[in-house]
Amino acid sequence: MTQRQKPTVYITRKLPDIVETRMRELFDAELNIDDTPRSQEALAAAMAHADVLVPTVTDRIDAGLIEQAGPRLKLIASFSNGVDNIDVDAAARRGITVTNTPAVLTEDTADMTLALILAVPRRLVEGAAILADRRHDWAGWSPNWMLGRRISGKRIGIVGMGRIGTAVARRAKAFGLSIHYHNRHRVSAETEAALEATYWDSLDQMLARVDFVSVNCPSTPATYHLLSARRLQLMQPTSYLVNTARGGIVDETALIACLREGRIAGAGLDVYENEPAINPKLVKLAAEGKVVLLPHMGSATLESRVDMGEKVIINIRTFFDGHRPPDRVLP
Ligand code: DGY
Repeated sequence: MTQRQKPTVYITRKLPDIVETRMRELFDAELNIDDTPRSQEALAAAMAHADVLVPTVTDRIDAGLIEQAGPRLKLIASFSNGVDNIDVDAAARRGITVTNTPAVLTEDTADMTLALILAVPRRLVEGAAILADRRHDWAGWSPNWMLGRRISGKRIGIVGMGRIGTAVARRAKAFGLSIHYHNRHRVSAETEAALEATYWDSLDQMLARVDFVSVNCPSTPATYHLLSARRLQLMQPTSYLVNTARGGIVDETALIACLREGRIAGAGLDVYENEPAINPKLVKLAAEGKVVLLPHMGSATLESRVDMGEKVIINIRTFFDGHRPPDRVLP
């Protein structure tokens, strides 16, 4: 790529410094210095003149926006694993390639999933909050105080056994959980054997038999409200639901009802249906210790975010070198 051919790359959010420095070297990079989320109008204006758009999960790149893209826009190189916020079909119709950043955030997201699996039944947030509250006078250890529920020896049902689901399974096995999973396709016999995993063709049947449900599938039209009111009610009253994938996969209103009615024991959530808005009923349940809520931070490590930036750069460079970018998302 010569100096004159540098593509104009519009980046919607502030990225790690090291990534931005590299982008400035390689591209005619338009950065978001103060990290203010861009309006739809600002995105439309950027897409009218740029060669590449680098959105994140907070941008809604819908068909209407894509229709307004100028003739120069050839690539949407998303700084994200999930691309449910991008209308990939509409992009394909306009001849725009879409890429994402898979694999590099797998381990960190799986760590956060396990953190929630541990935090909810063992009441970590409640316990820590007690000592963080200066008004509280801790009377000391007591046999019946802060009792949670044991994790080892229980069953986890993983919904979506891709990279992240498999990484969750590895960790869960190490914590003494037996692995159950539901996926569109069965994983290899070697992976099943290594994880001693049980495959459930029927999600309904798996939900009724496990103690933890971990949502790790992508958000697509087919997985919207996959964990519907009916399915949530199949779960055992002693079971927990953890979602580090996307809010829309779980019917949040139904989940709230199940938690309030004691149909399930608790939930750990990192993602929500209407981010960044959080349903106040969930906040109330958090105050009651029934749920642990995190602000979409599964991939929030410096390492993941730098690696995601590297992937974006590789995808852009490969594309402008005339090759198929490694992380192309097919419609
Ligand atoms: C993703 O990339 O899809 C995560 O949800 C945010 O990093």
